[in-house]
Amino acid sequence: MSQNDSVKIPAETMPWVTGTTRVFGTIAHPVDHVRAPMAFNPVFAARGLDQVMVPVDAPPEALADVVTALRAMPNFGGLAVTIPHKMEMARLCDTLGPEARLTGAVNAVRFDADGSMHGDNFDGSGFVAGLRQQGYEPAGMDVLMVGAGGAARAIALALCEAGVGRLRISNRTAAKADAIVAALADLAGHHQAETATGHDGAGVDMIVNTTSLGLHDGDALPITLDAVDAATLIAEIIMIPERTDWLADAEARGLTTHYGRHMLDCQLDLIGGFIGAL
Ligand SMILES: NC(=O)c1ccc[n+]([C@@H]2O[C@H](COP(=O)([O-])OP(=O)(O)OC[C@H]3O[C@@H](n4cnc5c(N)ncnc54)[C@H](OP(=O)(O)O)[C@@H]3O)[C@@H](O)[C@H]2O)c1
Repeated sequence: MSQNDSVKIPAETMPWVTGTTRVFGTIAHPVDHVRAPMAFNPVFAARGLDQVMVPVDAPPEALADVVTALRAMPNFGGLAVTIPHKMEMARLCDTLGPEARLTGAVNAVRFDADGSMHGDNFDGSGFVAGLRQQGYEPAGMDVLMVGAGGAARAIALALCEAGVGRLRISNRTAAKADAIVAALADLAGHHQAETATGHDGAGVDMIVNTTSLGLHDGDALPITLDAVDAATLIAEIIMIPERTDWLADAEARGLTTHYGRHMLDCQLDLIGGFIGAL
């Protein structure tokens, strides 16, 4: 689609941008796939907020220059941050919240009036908020988390903060699970996590898949469900496909499932609140 063919939005539904409008951005490269403007702008309009969220395309080699310019703009409020900038933006921030410190990555950055930048990561708290929104309370749960990548780090912290009774982490590369267990204890003072690579899923309240297995046709299942108890909640974080083979297998066995989209849906309010947009 060329720029001239771009989608026409009826004038009455467009946010009204004036000289007083406060500007927020979603920063990425490439930027055409970002969803934050479509998520935030209708909320700004519905709430009568004099704000707009725009896409900010920052090639990695220009990121520092782009950020310097945004810092200098008094009417700039903050950024939603996505691929490939989550880690470099964390390095550029003046302060980081707990989830960002544990993961080394941010997905939201607030720009204060003095030009200072404050980042945090809401992947994990979004996951926990999604569980609660769907009626599942993680406090006291015995959880098996499969995977120990970036999303797993954030989710592990949020589950511990939410008060899970026990968190076992199973990962192909056991050393990465060990590293999360150590970071939870050293950086956040949480001691309910342990490495449990090769766990069969029996006897836990919830199994969370944080691996990328399920993104592609023909992927192996993150964990087979043969040994899993009938009451175990099967939680996915992959969003596309919405119903992974693992979720389909769980549903065919009559198990209760929780979909990946809830984690992202619940981050809108968390990110918007942090950057001062909502
Ligand atoms: N719903 C949301 O809002 C949301 C947000 C963030 C991410 N996600 C999804 O979460 C998934 C993980 O993201 P991430 O950023 O954490 O990725 P990551 O840091 O690359 O971690 C990938 C994880 O998957 C494991 N893995 C990959 N291939 C494997 C295989 N063939 N066999 C066994 N384990 C394998 C890795 O194990 P090793 O350590 O052994 O390599 C690692 O634990 C992605 O699918 C992403 O789309 C969803």
